[in-house]
Amino acid sequence: MTPVIDSQASGPGTPPRAAFTDALTRAALERLELQITRSYAHNSLLYSTLENLADVETITHFMHWDGAQPPFARYLRLWLPRAPDCIRRELGDHINIEENQRHSELFTEMLRHLDSLVSSETDLDQDRLAELNYTFSERCAEERDIGFFLGGFWATEIMSAKRCLQIYRGLRRNRVADGPLEYFRIHFDSDEAHSRVVRDRMIVPVLQRTPYLLGAIRHGVHDRLSRSGAYVMWYEMTRLPSLVEESS
Ligand SMILES: [Fe+2]
Ligand SMILES: [Fe+2]
Repeated sequence: MTPVIDSQASGPGTPPRAAFTDALTRAALERLELQITRSYAHNSLLYSTLENLADVETITHFMHWDGAQPPFARYLRLWLPRAPDCIRRELGDHINIEENQRHSELFTEMLRHLDSLVSSETDLDQDRLAELNYTFSERCAEERDIGFFLGGFWATEIMSAKRCLQIYRGLRRNRVADGPLEYFRIHFDSDEAHSRVVRDRMIVPVLQRTPYLLGAIRHGVHDRLSRSGAYVMWYEMTRLPSLVEESS
């Protein structure tokens, strides 16, 4: 990580101030990363249930709820005009990757295949969806600053890799064919790397120029964790009661 602030040595025998700032930033980001990986959203009963216990029908129903969230690439696009110059190109490249990977088509193909394996349809509560889907909504993108966005983006990429692997494993445990599951394979293969790109090529350059945004980044991480945690807990309590009882 490069120093956050260029500075000279502050006295004999004292490390340069830049080294302190660098170390403090690194420590703050490490702490935030630990908060993400130890959060309930990242370690929920919902995803371990989908991985280890749920049948195809249960997983399919959840994927319908998941698929009803606003598209992530569109959410990233909403932030592009507000991104500072130092990260605009990186964010634009990331959006292109998201769009070039044919995410929406792969997701639709996967869901169509899952639908062909199950008999019942998912009932989606639209009011509840609007409430739960705030994170990637236009309303959320409008009312916060770039630090808040980067924190939420970073947490999203870290969590995506694990939950995609868990859902993929749950479907394979149920002997769903591998071919239609490319959407998941792409994500558990690449989202951990994406999270490092967000941290090292977006968050760090922004902090180099505007260190005071650390608070907003932290706020973005915490907001994402609490909203995702609320989402999975709501789903566990209302949609998976029998499975949750069996596994607890
Ligand atoms: Fe993606
Ligand atoms: Fe990603």
